[in-house]
Amino acid sequence: MNILITAGPTIEDIDPVRFISNRASGKLGVELAAAALKAGHRATLVHGPVGDTVNAAIAKLARNKRATIVPVRSAAEMHRAVMAHLRGADGVIMSAAVADFTPASFSVSKLKKAKQGLILTLKPTVDILRDVGRRKGKRSTPVLIGFALETGTGRTSQQRRASQTSEALRKLRDKNCDAIVLDSPKAMGASDGDFRILFRDGSELDCTGMSKMALAGELVKLVAAMHQKIRQSAH
Ligand code: CTP
Repeated sequence: MNILITAGPTIEDIDPVRFISNRASGKLGVELAAAALKAGHRATLVHGPVGDTVNAAIAKLARNKRATIVPVRSAAEMHRAVMAHLRGADGVIMSAAVADFTPASFSVSKLKKAKQGLILTLKPTVDILRDVGRRKGKRSTPVLIGFALETGTGRTSQQRRASQTSEALRKLRDKNCDAIVLDSPKAMGASDGDFRILFRDGSELDCTGMSKMALAGELVKLVAAMHQKIRQSAH
């Protein structure tokens, strides 16, 4: 199989020295690409700017002939790269923490300090996962796995869990995914997390306390199984 993976944060530039980003590390994306390669698949990793340790891990992956590494910076660049590599993908796993907003305009000169403060106008970025979901054809359907990063709302942990679940299920359907991985900000930058994989039929795979490496292995297995099912039903 050919598995396309998005990973890491995106960076949205404000001026030559400032930007908007988030705390995503790209660790899970690297584990996903490593798991795909280990299972004998081809992996295309489209990743935003990551730190030295993750970059070193990516450089190691790049030595594998079945790996294609595509570094990008902004949400718009990630969108273009994903669209360019979507053809021929059997599975798509979108673990990137893509910025939802980008500055409405980039200032070529450094913004100056002002006593009255600064109001920055942001415009929405393209939702890459939604765009891929929309393009899922009936015959050449790649398996599509999304992520949902939720803090949840409510006073009790039960209420928060219920709101996290309903939000993730909403994203799963809205973005036309085959499964969605629910995670929380706790997992950002960490080596493990409390993950839950939710499916369209309402079932779920509880991956609480799982390492990102183990989760990546599970997801690659899942993509392979779902892809096999699609192929069988097409014959
Ligand atoms: N995603 C994407 N492009 C965007 C925003 C999100 O591809 N511009 C993808 C992420 O990679 C992830 C999924 O959409 O797989 C959900 O991301 P998340 O941030 O949890 O949800 P949003 O749809 O951005 O909604 P919100 O931030 O309002 O919760």
